[in-house]
Order: sequence, then C-alpha cells, then structure tokens
Amino acid sequence: MKILITGALGQIGSELSLALKQIYGQNNVINSDLALPQQVASEYFPYCQLDVTNKQQLIDVITQNKIEVIYHLAAVLSASGEKNPQLCFDVNILGLYYVLEASRQNAIKQIICPSSIAVFGPETPKQNTPQETIILPKTMYGLSKASGELLCDYYVKKYNLDIRGLRYPGLISYKTLPTGGTTDYAVEIFYDAIKKGSYQCFLQENTILPMMYMPDAIRGTIELSCANFKQLNNHSNFNFAGVSFSCGEIALEIKKHLPHFTISYQPDFRQQIADSWPQSIDDSKAKQQWGWQCEYDLPKMTTDMLHHLNIKLNKHEQH
Ligand SMILES: NC(=O)c1ccc[n+]([C@@H]2O[C@H](COP(=O)([O-])OP(=O)(O)OC[C@H]3O[C@@H](n4cnc5c(N)ncnc54)[C@H](O)[C@@H]3O)[C@@H](O)[C@H]2O)c1
Repeated sequence: MKILITGALGQIGSELSLALKQIYGQNNVINSDLALPQQVASEYFPYCQLDVTNKQQLIDVITQNKIEVIYHLAAVLSASGEKNPQLCFDVNILGLYYVLEASRQNAIKQIICPSSIAVFGPETPKQNTPQETIILPKTMYGLSKASGELLCDYYVKKYNLDIRGLRYPGLISYKTLPTGGTTDYAVEIFYDAIKKGSYQCFLQENTILPMMYMPDAIRGTIELSCANFKQLNNHSNFNFAGVSFSCGEIALEIKKHLPHFTISYQPDFRQQIADSWPQSIDDSKAKQQWGWQCEYDLPKMTTDMLHHLNIKLNKHEQH
C-alpha cells in the first residue's frame, strides 16, 4: 500500500511517518511538505516537495507514486492562522478541497484528515464537550476545520470515499517542536524546564485545555485508519480525548521531578483563543465505534517527556 503524507515535517507527521513506515514498509510511505528535498533529513525519505495549494503538483505526486492512501496533515495552525487568516484559508480549506478532489479523481482508497478541538467555540459546553454540539468557532483555523469536517462528510456520502479524522486536542511531544498553535506552551514548558529551569507561559495559570501525549495520538490515528469503515457512523469528526489540565497543574507535575523549576504567566493573544475552547472532551463515540482508549495521564506523560527530552537535549549538547 502506497501512502502519501502531506505536511509530513510537522509535529504529527514527523512521528506518524516513522510509525507508518514500521507497519507498511520504508519505501511505501512518501513524505511531502513545503521544504526542498535537499533541506530535509534522510530519515524522511522517500520525500518530495508538495504545496497542497497547487492542485496539479498534488495530482502529479499521487499519480507518479501510485498513491492509494493519503494522510493529509498539511495545515496552518490556530495562532499562525490568526496572524495570517488568508494563508490559513488557502492551505486548510482550498488545500483540503484539492486533496479531496484529487482523491476522487484518482480513486484513493482512504484519506485521513485531522480536525481539531478548535471547531468548538465559546457557546459550546466546556466540560465533557459532546460529539454533536454547538460548532461556532471564532478563529479562521477553527472555521477551516469545521468546514473541513463538513466537506469530508460530503465526499463520503456523495462519492463513497473512505475519509476518517479526529478532533485532536493539544498534542505534546518531544521529537518536533510545535509552532503556531495555542497549546504549544505544554511542549515549550518541558524544554525550558530542562534548559533554563524556568518558563514564561503565554496562557493564564488556571487555563484548562484538553491535551494528549503523542504516542496516544499516533496509536489512535492508526487504530482509526484500521477500523472497519462499515462500523463507523462518524467519519472526519471524532471527538478524541487524552488528559485535561491547567497550566498551573502541569507546572506542579514538572516540579515533582525538577524541584527548582519556576513558572511565570504573561498571557498574550492566544489566551482569547484558549478561552474559546473546551476544557474536557467526551470521546465515547470513538470508544464505542473503534475501541479508543487513552493510555497516558499527566504523571505518566510528564515522566516520559522529561526522560526523552533529557536524552535528546544532552545528545544535542554533546554535538
Ligand atoms: N499539533 C496539535 O496539537 C494539533 C491539534 C489539533 C489538530 N491538529 C491538526 O493535525 C494536523 C497536523 O498538525 P501538526 O501539529 O503536525 O502541524 P504542524 O504545523 O507541526 O505541521 C504542519 C505542516 O504542514 C506544512 N504546510 C504548511 N502549509 C503547507 C502547504 N501549503 N503545503 C504543504 N505543506 C504545508 C508545514 O510546513 C508543516 O510542516 C493539522 O491538520 C492540524 O490542524 C494538530
């Protein structure tokens, strides 16, 4: 099975591509992103440059590589999207439309297309946010994801395409630093705790957001892709929950390992985005329809993050 990943150099793609290569074979997973091949580390090969807003380039990559499955991860995230809404619209809405059209025309067997908790807005119930609820996002990113879910469902019903997607919460990982998201603080805090012993957080201490550790997110994504399509009543919009905590709570958890760690709070424009999102997510549909179960709670994730990041940063210093 030949798989194409768009946006493969990002926070999720950089880990998902390794996991998919282990399952489907090194040469069957084609990574793509905006960077030129000569700028890309060898672990990402086979690799090709692909801008998803270029429909012809997308079709060429699909046909030349005989692609059968697409993980469409290319996107502009929430904070970057508020800085450049036009780019966010182009990449997230037009780019997705081109991927769906190219998939329809080339009989792609499966498309995985992530959504986000950013589809929810201030009118949505904040606690245990239901699967079906008020979807009135206030950011360009959120509305691009909400319309993306609807577009995907349209292609499922109209053209019988197999499309699946999760509303990812904020993802925490140590391989690739996230950029341009509102939940980035929950990764930066670990880097600064190890490197500087202190962190200035761009959200308030009591801001609670739904989060997930990357190993859970990768496993869940692959499990959803392997589920029996006939058993799925939802398609591109599964609520997907890991662990919810406030900025203060993660700081306290880090302090258990690094007692001298200190945190200060200097909220910026991202506070307003965070305040419009839920605090916890009801993912019972994912549990019922394809058996989702999260493994990492806050203490287990913190221990694992610090362990791996210490190794990574020490290695980096030695070079
Ligand atoms: N990371 C999270 O916390 C999170 C949370 C919710 C949803 N998501 C969703 O998951 C998907 C992947 O997110 P991520 O965290 O890996 O994002 P990321 O920003 O780390 O990576 C996105 C990648 O897309 C690439 N890209 C941007 N414009 C492009 C274009 N025109 N053509 C091709 N590539 C382009 C970027 O270069 C980048 O490598 C996105 O759909 C995102 O909305 C992520």
